[in-house]
Amino acid sequence: MKSVVKIFRLGFPIYLGFASAASASPAPDPLATISGEIVTTPAAWTKEVRPRTLEHFRETIYGVRPVDKPADFSAKIIRTDRATLGGKATSKEIEFRYSGPHGKGGFHALLLIPNAAKAPSPTFVVLHFTKPDPTAAASVNGAWPAERLIDRGYATVAFDVNEVDPDRPDGYAAGVRALFDSQPPPADAWGTLSAWGWGASRVLDYLETDPAIDAKHVAVVGHSRRGKAALWCGAEDQRFAYVISNDSGCAGADLARTKKGESIANITKRFGYWFSPNYPKFAGREDALPIDQHQLLALIAPRPLYVASATRDLYASPEAAFASCRLASPVYQLFGKSGIDSSTQPPPGAAIDSGTIGYFLRIGPHDMLPADWEHYLNFADKRL
Ligand code: GCU
Repeated sequence: MKSVVKIFRLGFPIYLGFASAASASPAPDPLATISGEIVTTPAAWTKEVRPRTLEHFRETIYGVRPVDKPADFSAKIIRTDRATLGGKATSKEIEFRYSGPHGKGGFHALLLIPNAAKAPSPTFVVLHFTKPDPTAAASVNGAWPAERLIDRGYATVAFDVNEVDPDRPDGYAAGVRALFDSQPPPADAWGTLSAWGWGASRVLDYLETDPAIDAKHVAVVGHSRRGKAALWCGAEDQRFAYVISNDSGCAGADLARTKKGESIANITKRFGYWFSPNYPKFAGREDALPIDQHQLLALIAPRPLYVASATRDLYASPEAAFASCRLASPVYQLFGKSGIDSSTQPPPGAAIDSGTIGYFLRIGPHDMLPADWEHYLNFADKRL
């Protein structure tokens, strides 16, 4: 094949800089085919590398979705209010309904559209953890800064991920997975994080039908566990034009092979239901993973991606997240974009965001704060 050259990149400085364990295996080359050939064109990567990488992530970490858009999927506006946020926005409450072989399910989302918009609005889809309230304080626990988004000219829609699939070890029966899984669930069944991303894709199904929305410019954003889900959502669904992960840590942006921050052993012990049943097999065996999280970021290429960390959030290791951003960058470069254009992490409080991957290291603890959002919005202004 013309577009592929055979170069074995042993010694590629992929694991320099974090190789505290001399035994660490190199992170897989995100440009390599199954036989170790390095692709040199976007077309070859898209055809030969992307599908296999996606399969590895499904199989190993997030599980395989048994359904995309259900046959009887419906999205109905059950309430409209043109006077939301003191008249700045029109809100629409949307009710999603669907059924699978094992029953019926659904969830709600709250969409806000700026009343000042003169054209269809680019939109942020927010994976939220409670019933979304656009007037709630936006400074705690990754809450939704709806008014700020509207003021900046964006539409935004949030939904409570717990309505799609409850975030509890015993939540299975009440979530979407129980409706569609074969029973008993397969060995590579989807976990809760994938179900949340599936929910965001169903929200996008609706957005594509709303003339007030610019559905070609829709971002998906999440904090922490929802940051993991947002990344996976963007990997599975290429309709999302911009993906934002805040403090997503293990199984999010963090390169597992750095062995910094939360381990696979810890996360699968506490939150096994988030993942494919195969993931715990890699507990204590990060080096044996067939893929690593930089390839998850690469699955978002060439679309804009923003990854943020916080200095006091070592459990979601800033070092491991930055390593992934750097190692995903060759795929962005293949598409003629720059990813992260620096080999050193920005100092606390600074951002590196001149490329198509942005990275920001906030000073402070694990959280998603208004300061983080300003970075995501500035990046969107330039890239969407
Ligand atoms: C736990 C979990 C993390 C997760 C975090 C969160 O700490 O171990 O992986 O990111 O919760 O969602 O806040």
